[in-house]
Amino acid sequence: MRKPFVAGNWKMHGTVREAAELAGGLAAQIGHVDNVDVALCPPYTAIGTVRDAIRGSRLRLGAQDLHWEKSGAYTGEVSAGMLIDAGCSCVIIGHSERRQFFGETDDSVNRKLKAAVAAGLEAIVCVGETLVEREAGSTLAVVERQLAGGLEGAGCDQLAIAYEPVWAIGTGKVATPDQAQEVHGFIRAWLGRKYGHAADCVRILYGGSVKPDNILSLSAQPDIDGALVGGASLKVDSFLDIVGGSLKRE
Ligand code: PGA
Repeated sequence: MRKPFVAGNWKMHGTVREAAELAGGLAAQIGHVDNVDVALCPPYTAIGTVRDAIRGSRLRLGAQDLHWEKSGAYTGEVSAGMLIDAGCSCVIIGHSERRQFFGETDDSVNRKLKAAVAAGLEAIVCVGETLVEREAGSTLAVVERQLAGGLEGAGCDQLAIAYEPVWAIGTGKVATPDQAQEVHGFIRAWLGRKYGHAADCVRILYGGSVKPDNILSLSAQPDIDGALVGGASLKVDSFLDIVGGSLKRE
């Protein structure tokens, strides 16, 4: 049985003070029942503050990206070792906004994944098609290409996948549970061919306009193991409702 995993991707939002308030509010209310893994992924500027605000709670700290080298002359970049040092236990890799605006490729995703795992981070590797690709009927081919390139030569021990249809991110247009399950089931089968039974443990999160009112129907799908949440992770109440809604109900 896979434990659901909900990660809040704060993107480029919030001052240090706002981050402290949000993380502090979540830490105070998250409770101690450990039936869902919950991570906060603030901007780098707030990572230390969030780490301090969630200390002693069951919230995990994550980052939104990393560089594959350990250190060096890479202005603006942060390494896996630095994230571990700062208190992170997970990292998002290959988010569609990185792919769209910052030149992320399947090859760079692959390097980042290997660096993250080697350092001991859990990686959340994002895949997903654009609207044009969906309308052209190439959703599964795109996802397969992203998986094959991104996971080339990598294991699945510290791996989670986030399926995020690009057309659903920040648009309010959530994939229907059936649309999401179709792709999640495809990803599960693909992982099974690559990794065998070990793939049963890989959590596949859905992302793209996840809200308290759609999480229940999404998490009822057999291959949806939680969510990567953008906008709705910036408010204590909506994020906690999503965490609660991500539990599998028999
Ligand atoms: P959204 O973002 O929930 O605001 O659509 C999700 C994501 O980009 O991870």
